[in-house]
Amino acid sequence: MPEAKLSLRGVEKSFGANQVLRGIDMEVTEGEMICLIGASGSGKSTLLRCINQLEPIDEGRVLLDGQDISEPGLDLGPVRRRIGIVFQSYNLFPHMSALENVTLAPRRVLHEEATALQARAATLFARFGLAEHMLKYPDQLSGGQQQRVAVIRALAMRPEIMLFDEITAALDPELVGEVLAVLRQLREEGMTMLLATHEMGFARDLADRVCFMDGGVIVEEGPPEQIFSAPQVARTQAFLASVLRQ
Ligand SMILES: Nc1ncnc2c1ncn2[C@@H]1O[C@H](COP(=O)(O)OP(=O)(O)O)[C@@H](O)[C@H]1O
Ligand SMILES: [Mg+2]
Repeated sequence: MPEAKLSLRGVEKSFGANQVLRGIDMEVTEGEMICLIGASGSGKSTLLRCINQLEPIDEGRVLLDGQDISEPGLDLGPVRRRIGIVFQSYNLFPHMSALENVTLAPRRVLHEEATALQARAATLFARFGLAEHMLKYPDQLSGGQQQRVAVIRALAMRPEIMLFDEITAALDPELVGEVLAVLRQLREEGMTMLLATHEMGFARDLADRVCFMDGGVIVEEGPPEQIFSAPQVARTQAFLASVLRQ
């Protein structure tokens, strides 16, 4: 078996007295797409934030290419560059064009030469069908377009892994498809991805593996056909019955 790109070993996390992650073990292979599903409050966002060290973990380890990135005192800059994250709210700077939003962090952090960086960013905009919107400001773009810009902004840092936290949850239904199409394309390009999502159809079609979380543990995981068609655990069955009924 190839060495895992990312491994979580016994990850625990509490906020005060509230234990939110209760021992998460996970191995992610390069190029894999994993969907995290589960009710609100089950710990999906916290898990993603603990992976790229936006939240320090209390117990356990997070390994990237075998290196412990959860070790206290580690310089987190390189870690966060290697593991990109996109949130539900895209938070583009309103006074900057889409292109400026995308090039800001690479310019500051990667110290890339301006012309080369602009060219690389333009390639990203073209790749995701936004070439003609590159010079627009966020308020001239739809929510779906802004979220696609936010994905491009994360990709501009050349991450090796991408984390997506409910990135379609705030969008009008007619705009969800264009953002999911970006994720589909990234998967085809071989990006290693973890997504917290409520888009069950998408998870079913595209995930290599689905993890159902409840109460801070992964209750059940497996290929989507197994999780969606033949869940083994009663809590998974109850969750899917409630979301698929809607
Ligand atoms: N920064 C925080 N401070 C305190 N409690 C938090 C924080 N982030 C999340 N929580 C709590 O952790 C639990 C899990 O939340 P979250 O990871 O957001 O779940 P999900 O993404 O599955 O809805 C909730 O009880 C939430 O209130
Ligand atoms: Mg969440």
